[in-house]
Amino acid sequence: MQSRTQSKKIFDKMCEIIPGGVNSPVRACSGMGQLPMVIDHAKHDILTDVDGNHYIDFCCSWGSLLHGHAHPKILEAVQARMHKGTSFGITTNIEGELAQEIVNLIESIEKIRFVSSGTEATMSVARLARGFTNRDIIIKFSGNYHGHADLFLVQAGSGVFQLSPTSSSAGIPADSVKHTLSLPFNDIEAVREVFENPKYKGCIAGVILEPVAANMGVVPATSEFINFLRDITQKHGSLLIFDEVITGFRVGLKGAQGMYGVKPDLSCFGKIIGGGLPAAAFGGRADIMNYLAPLGPVYQAGTLSGNPLAMEAGLQALKLLQKPGFYESLKQNTDLFLYPIKEIIKMNNVNACIQQVGSMFTLFFGKKEVKNMEDAKELDNEMFAKFFRYMFERGVYIPPSQHEAWFISSQHKMENLIKTRDIILNFFK
Ligand SMILES: Cc1ncc(COP(=O)(O)O)c(C=O)c1O
Repeated sequence: MQSRTQSKKIFDKMCEIIPGGVNSPVRACSGMGQLPMVIDHAKHDILTDVDGNHYIDFCCSWGSLLHGHAHPKILEAVQARMHKGTSFGITTNIEGELAQEIVNLIESIEKIRFVSSGTEATMSVARLARGFTNRDIIIKFSGNYHGHADLFLVQAGSGVFQLSPTSSSAGIPADSVKHTLSLPFNDIEAVREVFENPKYKGCIAGVILEPVAANMGVVPATSEFINFLRDITQKHGSLLIFDEVITGFRVGLKGAQGMYGVKPDLSCFGKIIGGGLPAAAFGGRADIMNYLAPLGPVYQAGTLSGNPLAMEAGLQALKLLQKPGFYESLKQNTDLFLYPIKEIIKMNNVNACIQQVGSMFTLFFGKKEVKNMEDAKELDNEMFAKFFRYMFERGVYIPPSQHEAWFISSQHKMENLIKTRDIILNFFK
């Protein structure tokens, strides 16, 4: 690797005018003991920093780039669209095209509304669930991350994982989280107890979860847990909400709901549906979605919602992923990459594990299995930081925390996967 003098110069300057030098905390690589990256450009699976260093990218804009960086089909379509104007704040046909595509693909989505970020989607879905049911309580699960709205920052995952366990951020009044119940993930009895507690009878608006949690590292919910949530919410008139901001169009064409064979009442999408531009959405049963303004009493709005450039990028991304064999080949590449690493861990009885769902996975250090946040708290973060630096020095960029998911895109070249795999095997040796 060449020196990173330009990166340092730019980052130091940024730190003077942007808090921590970053516009989202995880980018600061806290705890990794090194200067964060400053990117100049990227293509396919390769990031290039301002000093001209190249890195194989396993973060893929935190899962947004299912088709890698600067995919020509997405670029061409967005360029053409840009010449027609970049934003109107008025209805455009492309919003309808992307909406129709999602409605066609995801059975539970009868109506959908676009927003600009996953945070907006989850925040809006919570308000809608509360407005529709006329109830206040939202149940979430510890270690699940649903963006940074006040009500969700209770035992949250991702960048807030290491902060205080009750409210995961300063600046949140106790009143703002008093209707949020955070329960242990994958724990049927804990959920049953709350639903059967007379104190909460008729008060629970909805249960939200990441069906495959990705923000404490990849931790899938068990089928029993998901099926139980579907049954108990139905029984008590509460809504089941899947946060598929990461899993939507990542784990398969029908998302995690297709994988588990369960139909939630409402769902959130983001990342992939924006094709690398800022777009997200929430949707579900038409009778619930009709509660949104202007039809209903639940207010929700956005100046740039359904932005035509983001809609175009998203539409192209969804077209690309519907090519026959797309997910099979993605999974096959990921399996080929991971198999020898899983084997070396097993054969040498290394205190580590890989948890994988399709093309997303996490390599955990310090545990043989991670089922929930309690397990995730016991991981060996020092060893992970050492591993991160080892990879980085050899030109591989992985998420700078083991409470995040790694992603493989359709544009990861086999030679780069093999190169990365060998670096990891050497680390273990
Ligand atoms: C599952 C999940 N929900 C919501 C969000 C928030 O999305 P955004 O960062 O676009 O606000 C994220 C972000 O990583 C996420 O992983």
